[in-house]
Amino acid sequence: MCGIIGIVSQNQVQSHLIDGLKRLEYRGYDSAGIATVQDNQIHRRRSAGKLINLQNLVESEPIQGQIGIGHTRWATHGAANTENAHPHSSREVAVVHNGIIENFSDLKKHLQEKGYTFQSDTDTEVIVYLITDYLHQGNDPLTAVQKTLTKLQGAFALAILFKDAPDTLIATRHGSPLVLGIKENELFVSSDAVAFAPWTQQVCYLEEGDLAVLNAGDCFSYELYDRDGHKVDRPLRRSQITGESVSKAEYSHYMLKEIFEQPTVLSDTLQSLLNLENQKVSLKDIDLNWKMLNRIQIIACGTSYYAGLVAKYWFEKWAGIAVDVEIASEFRYRSPVMSSNTLNILISQSGETIDTLAVLSQLKEHGHQVLALVNVPESSIARKADYVLQTLAGPEIGVASTKAFTSQLMVLACLCLKTGKERDVIKPDVYESLVQALVSLPGMISYVLQNSEIYQKLALGFTTARNCLYLGRGITYPIALEGALKLKEISYIHAEGYAAGELKHGPIALVDLTMPVVVLAPYDEWFEKTLSNLQEVIARGAQLLCLTDQKGEEKIRQQIKAGYSMEIVVFPQVDTFIEPILYTIPVQLLAYYIALLKGTDIDQPRNLAKSVTVE
Ligand code: AGP
Repeated sequence: MCGIIGIVSQNQVQSHLIDGLKRLEYRGYDSAGIATVQDNQIHRRRSAGKLINLQNLVESEPIQGQIGIGHTRWATHGAANTENAHPHSSREVAVVHNGIIENFSDLKKHLQEKGYTFQSDTDTEVIVYLITDYLHQGNDPLTAVQKTLTKLQGAFALAILFKDAPDTLIATRHGSPLVLGIKENELFVSSDAVAFAPWTQQVCYLEEGDLAVLNAGDCFSYELYDRDGHKVDRPLRRSQITGESVSKAEYSHYMLKEIFEQPTVLSDTLQSLLNLENQKVSLKDIDLNWKMLNRIQIIACGTSYYAGLVAKYWFEKWAGIAVDVEIASEFRYRSPVMSSNTLNILISQSGETIDTLAVLSQLKEHGHQVLALVNVPESSIARKADYVLQTLAGPEIGVASTKAFTSQLMVLACLCLKTGKERDVIKPDVYESLVQALVSLPGMISYVLQNSEIYQKLALGFTTARNCLYLGRGITYPIALEGALKLKEISYIHAEGYAAGELKHGPIALVDLTMPVVVLAPYDEWFEKTLSNLQEVIARGAQLLCLTDQKGEEKIRQQIKAGYSMEIVVFPQVDTFIEPILYTIPVQLLAYYIALLKGTDIDQPRNLAKSVTVE
């Protein structure tokens, strides 16, 4: 969602602000802007739409200044136009803001009564005038901001410039992440370390409620205050994110690059969880009483939720334990009946998803232990959870999740094997063979990727479709859901994923000659049943794409009536355990190439945000 960058430098900051915003584009946005202070005046440029509009604007109307803030806005309050774009400013201050101010209408009314005139429909502008009002009352910038914070309700992060304190930038986090980047003679603040990755890896993550004062002056320094206003120190860390890890390299899109990175990141993730000497899953820091566990509850959103659905099949079959999988935005407002001896697993690529984070707080408030599965180790979810398992997917820039999803699956598969072993549910030989199956996966995925041109050709058959159906049974059912989500996210074709057995209970009414149906049908324990569903689809003349293996292909060809044409893609025969990971790759590639033909904005699909930090 929205992105913040702030820079205090000995150089002009305009071009760095724009560069930083470019690296935040992936989060999703619909307008952008920057502001600086120069000659005791605030200078501001804002534009609706893509960053290129802002770039063009600053090229024709540049702004000077060695201190500045920038923002990519994902509209919540008010349309995605220039008036609502950040920074918002008065004569005295300029503010960029992530998150939502829940009590903004009361504050706005109060400020209007005091004579302040609002220029936008945003909730952000109340922050501008509150700070301005406190400055008018004779407060210094720090006190004005601190007093303003006591009035604001909601989850937010801010970066603020002051006309009369041209060496000072104040930033603060309350529910939305912020990180400082530290370099000699240059300081950065951002919602995401990606923004300043090419310039520094030395970072300092603000804690909840922290406020940072960045100073230029004689030497570049910063001070941190906690939520009670006490000066604090926070540890400096070295960020894993480098300039290289956020480049597209030779790929046309981040999404394609990230799809092709999967053999490497899955291998890295697996190696981080396997003891290489004995090839056993070792989760060093997870100290659970595995035998006492009688239930697992997985809570997540979107693609991460689908990873949880796959895990349900795994844990039930190979670890003999009951699993509930929950959508975080529903779970947090229900009255779930919690039992002891339940392992709560929260899955989140970003580690910042607001609903998942809220569930974490609720679970912790009620004394429940939480294991978080995240891709960003410094994220809010990782820092609040009792235990953390990390996917080593590296930064995922494409809004549509690909490598993070399969890495989540890799970790969950390992966790399942560990649980099954500790609970004496899984037989040693089965355990060994499943570990070997996981070890073989990166090679199999490379093979599928080497043949990616198949999906380029298949994509041609989808471009005119208005609707599309994905079917799977058993352990591939969640991958049908994920395939449909990928397609709708990036190609804007309406797609639904269904359990193949549910076809007759409704969706078959949609099937006709114009409807492409993608069936995930590896030759496994569910295959024969899926084959019947395939027949039902064929009887209605749908365009069929069948993803299967060699045995599956033979069976399909034997049974399908002559003359019916369908596309079949054949995959290596694999253990059922790893099917969901392997069969994810074709649905990703298919969605990618269909979107490519449709000419959509693949890495930043319309209306979507990479990290969903507002409800
Ligand atoms: C996936 O392609 C989506 N962009 C989205 O569903 C995502 O998985 C969801 O918003 C959850 O995000 P998280 O994993 O960062 O919590």
